Amino acid sequence: MKIAFIGAGNMASSLIRGLQAGAVPADDIIAADPVQRQLAALADLGVQTTTDNAVAVASADTIVLAIKPQVTGTVLGQLPPLNSHQLVISIVAGIDMSSLQDWLPQGQPIVRCMPNTPALLGAGITGLFANREVSAQQREAASQILNSVGSSVWVAQEAQLDAVTAVSGSGPAYFFLLMESMVASAQRLGLDPSISRQLVVETARGAALMACQPGADPATLRHNVTSPGGTTEAALNTMQAQGLADTVDTALHAARDRAETLAVEFGSKA
Ligand SMILES: NC(=O)c1ccc[n+]([C@@H]2O[C@H](COP(=O)([O-])OP(=O)(O)OC[C@H]3O[C@@H](n4cnc5c(N)ncnc54)[C@H](OP(=O)(O)O)[C@@H]3O)[C@@H](O)[C@H]2O)c1
Repeated sequence: MKIAFIGAGNMASSLIRGLQAGAVPADDIIAADPVQRQLAALADLGVQTTTDNAVAVASADTIVLAIKPQVTGTVLGQLPPLNSHQLVISIVAGIDMSSLQDWLPQGQPIVRCMPNTPALLGAGITGLFANREVSAQQREAASQILNSVGSSVWVAQEAQLDAVTAVSGSGPAYFFLLMESMVASAQRLGLDPSISRQLVVETARGAALMACQPGADPATLRHNVTSPGGTTEAALNTMQAQGLADTVDTALHAARDRAETLAVEFGSKA
């Protein structure tokens, strides 16, 4: 499988490193970007590079769009016509399937993805959605590429990708905000800033590791660490009384609604 990356920024670099760690040969990867500096870093990994997107796609089985939403229509409009066997994988946030189909030849197999930032460390989670033209083998290829920087899930309806955006796409920032609030509170409780940060970050890591155990359920884990009349219960009762669950629900709906709006702003119908 020959893979071409259009855009050689942060996500493309992480995916290429992930693929190489998974034993995909450097010869099977080509990256295109107008910025020579970005390409130089990838050339050091042994992959082919070019400043011409047309050269990159010429012999590719799979083309990964890793560019900003604002330039996507222009970039796709300037590509030579693709053949109907070439799979296009878009990780571009906010560009929906209908826009990609408008900008690409009719009948092009396309997978639209929503990765998240921990992908940069190989710990991402990606939602994927395929149009009807994508074969089982191409689905497998898309999973393999995105799984190289973490894990992935397929959704059956494109609208669910906006929900994925609200949950895992924007999700890291929700945990960062909680950590930020806990660090500030730890200091108000009299702890040093560096100790506060260490306590919070390591607690987040430990809680995430526990939640990642096979069969682990967050509600059960919470129940197991909450003694009746204890300190944890005092904190959790306060969070619940102040409407944490409703706040989270309203916030995720706002993110989902914003994803829908951005798809219109950036898309071919704008
Ligand atoms: N980073 C994340 O965690 C994350 C998560 C989910 C989704 N995404 C999506 O993934 C996409 C890439 O994100 P990123 O963080 O990798 O962005 P990035 O680092 O800015 O990479 C985009 C690259 O595309 C290049 N580019 C611009 N115009 C081009 C053209 N005409 N042809 C080829 N390449 C071109 C850019 O060059 P210039 O710098 O010169 O513009 C840049 O090197 C975005 O659409 C983003 O929404 C990212």
